[in-house]
Amino acid sequence: MRTYLVTGAAGFIGSALVRALLERGDRVRALDNFKTGKRENLDGFWDAIEFEELDLNDFDRLAAFCRGVDCILHQAAIPSVPKSVADPLTSHRANIDGTVSVLLAAKSAQVPRVVYAASSSAYGNTPTLPKREDMKANPISPYAVQKLTGELYAASFHRVYGMETVSLRYFNVFGPRQDATSQYSGVLAKFITLMLRGEAPTIFGDGDQSRDYTYVDNVVQANLRAAGAPAERVVGRTFNVATGVRHTLKDVFELLKSITGFDGEPNYDADRIGDVKHSLADISAAREAFAYDPQVDFREGLVRTVDWYRGAVEATKVVQGV
Ligand code: UD1
Repeated sequence: MRTYLVTGAAGFIGSALVRALLERGDRVRALDNFKTGKRENLDGFWDAIEFEELDLNDFDRLAAFCRGVDCILHQAAIPSVPKSVADPLTSHRANIDGTVSVLLAAKSAQVPRVVYAASSSAYGNTPTLPKREDMKANPISPYAVQKLTGELYAASFHRVYGMETVSLRYFNVFGPRQDATSQYSGVLAKFITLMLRGEAPTIFGDGDQSRDYTYVDNVVQANLRAAGAPAERVVGRTFNVATGVRHTLKDVFELLKSITGFDGEPNYDADRIGDVKHSLADISAAREAFAYDPQVDFREGLVRTVDWYRGAVEATKVVQGV
C-alpha cells in the first residue's frame, strides 16, 4: 500500500483522484485551501483520508505534511486562462510559487515521485496539429506561461536534484464536479448547466475553435499509470494527456442539444482575449511510456457529465423549493 498526497484535492480533478486512489486501496493524504476547491467534492471520504486545509505557499506545514509520502499528485492551481488575464499576480502565486513550494517540500521530505498537472495551453497557437511534446512551446496567456514554468521547474528538479518528476499536459478536462458557477468556469460545465436550465450559452468568437476535450477518468488513469511507471520511462519528461480527437465548439453545442434536450440557439460574443484557436493532442508518447489508454470517449463523457449535472440541478431545485 502506497501513500499518495493529492494537492488541490477538493477540486474536480483532485477529488476524482482521491476517489480512484481510495478505491484501489491506497492511503490518501489530501490538501486544499478552498480558494477554488469545494468541501462537498470530498463528502463521503473525510473519514478515509488525512486532510489538511493548507496553502501551498505555507512551506513549513507543507513540508511536514509530505513526510512519509510515496508520490505527490500535484493538481492545486488557479486553473483558468481568463482569470490569469484578469489577475496574473494571484494566479502566478498559486501556479508558479505554489508549484516550486511543492517541489521543494517533496525534496526536503524525500518524496520519491511528483506528478505535475501541466496544461495544453503551453502550445499556444502554433499551426501544426496534432501537438507533440517535442514541439516548441508558445504560451499566450499568463496561465499558459505559469503552467509551462511549472513543467520547467519539475524537469529542472529532476536534472539538478535527481528527483523523479513527471509532467502531464492535460487537454481541456471535463466531467462531474467541475465548477460551473464562475464566469471563469470551463466551457462544458457552463454550457451544460445553462442548457439544462433552458438558457442559451454564449459562444465567444465564431464557434469554429476546436479542443481535444478529455473526460476526467482518462486523466485519472494517466496519473495512476505515470505514478507507477518505471522511472527510466517517465521521469524528467512531459506527456500529453488527451484523447487525440478534437471538436469545434459549434459541434459541441449541437451534441449537447441532443443530450440535454435544449432546443434554442446560442448567443455569440467577441473572441476571448488570450484564446487558442485549435487544440489537438498526439498521445502516442504517453501510450508508449506508461500504456495510457483513454477509455471514455467524448460523447460518453458528455452523457455521464450531463447526467451528473442533471442531478445537481434537480437537487438545487429541491433546496429552493421550485
Ligand atoms: C485552457 C487550456 C486547458 C486548461 C484550461 C484551464 C488550451 C487549448 N486549453 O482551456 O488545457 O485546462 O485552460 O482553464 O489552452 N468559451 C465560450 N463560451 C464560454 C466559455 C468558453 O465560447 O462561456 C470558449 C473559449 O473562448 C474557448 C473554449 O470555449 O475558445 C474553451 O474555453 P475554456 O473551457 O475556458 O478552456 P480553454 O481556455 O480552452
